[in-house]
Amino acid sequence: MKDTPINYEIVNQKIREMNLPSVGKASIREIKRLVDNIETATGECFVRMEMGVPGLPAAAVGVKGEIEALERGVASIYPDIDGIPELKPEISRFVKNFLDVEVDPSSCIPTVGSMQASFASFLTLARLYRDRDTTLFIDPGFPVHKQQHKVLGQNFESFDVYEYRGVKLRAKLESYLSKGRIHSILYSNPNNPSWICFTDKELQIIGELATKYNVVIIEDLAYIAMDFRKDFSQPGIPPFQPTVAKYTDNYVLLISSSKAFSYAGQRIGTMVISNKLFNTKAPDLLRFFSSDVFGHAMIFGTVYALSSGTSHSAQYALAAMLRAANDGTFNFVEDVREYGKKAKIMKKIFTDNGFKIVYDMDEDTPIADGFYFTISYPGFTGEQLIEELIYYGISAISLAITGSERLEGLRACVSLVKRSQFPDLEYRLNKFYEHHPIG
Ligand SMILES: Cc1ncc(COP(=O)(O)O)c(C=O)c1O
Repeated sequence: MKDTPINYEIVNQKIREMNLPSVGKASIREIKRLVDNIETATGECFVRMEMGVPGLPAAAVGVKGEIEALERGVASIYPDIDGIPELKPEISRFVKNFLDVEVDPSSCIPTVGSMQASFASFLTLARLYRDRDTTLFIDPGFPVHKQQHKVLGQNFESFDVYEYRGVKLRAKLESYLSKGRIHSILYSNPNNPSWICFTDKELQIIGELATKYNVVIIEDLAYIAMDFRKDFSQPGIPPFQPTVAKYTDNYVLLISSSKAFSYAGQRIGTMVISNKLFNTKAPDLLRFFSSDVFGHAMIFGTVYALSSGTSHSAQYALAAMLRAANDGTFNFVEDVREYGKKAKIMKKIFTDNGFKIVYDMDEDTPIADGFYFTISYPGFTGEQLIEELIYYGISAISLAITGSERLEGLRACVSLVKRSQFPDLEYRLNKFYEHHPIG
């Protein structure tokens, strides 16, 4: 019987009941279930850092816009597949205001979450050129994107960017691109799970290679403007969210509403296709689509076939949120800044107790405090660490499932942790440190 913050016997029993081959290898949902069960049995609250879900209320301006739309009767009417006329110009304005990039409203397409935007992108881009059948992931990354490849039966390659930051990125990328099979490259920026942010130098390298090898960059901006080291919150005023779109005209931007606007439940996101790619003609598309124009194939081929557009009322919500952000009456960054403030405090509690931040630098600058951070503890693999932390009332996920080569690491998500839990976190990590002295 060990003196752990959560009753040792009960944790053991609940682990046995779940019949997991290994707690450290469990999926996010299995960890969630295990922790739910332990919480119910012990009456203790965990410091829950396993799920990347918003921890804030949905943006009120969106909710209001959506309710008004429903009351006007939009629920009975099919929306345009490529987005309602009220929304498309607001997406284009948003991209200009917050990224300083110009795209035509016709290239801005609302989707069923950013998840559908990536699925539709992979599906269509893999059919663009007959001889290009592979996506390259700059990892670590969001595991569901690889799952999308598996269900589509598509190929991907990946590498962990940890050792290839800065100028080293060029040669690493060229080693894949020069083989001629890659049709697109995906990364998230800021990055889930590591919260690294590419520097402008790195984005320039990526952009230049995209142009040189005619490869499309799928830039996942699920955490747009959340690098809180800089203030990206003022429409039309620098600094702007860094983006590869400054360095190539061969891109698709995925802008989720889930975290920026805490609008995850309504499943609405945005796919922004560069004007050049939107109008690209590729005869190979005719194998699958009625048009050889990429934008047309995407809208009337892929998006039509997948879901015939996305929820009518949620499009009004997004239009209202974007309009307010564009007009400067809704500072969406201010609302989510709390994630960064919490991360700063939590990272210190971890590092004061022997933990290390795994991905800690953007070239020569310490990474930002934001939605996620990564941790390790001397002498533990990630798998062992997850399992051990459960006895201390702390849950997280292993970096192993994200394509990271840092197998000692865990991803910690700050969103669901309440400030009132910080004393508990500190007490539990003190105990952990005491029980696992660093030699
Ligand atoms: C990097 C990344 N991309 C995409 C998504 C999915 O976004 P959405 O909820 O808009 O489908 C997430 C959600 O966690 C994410 O972290």
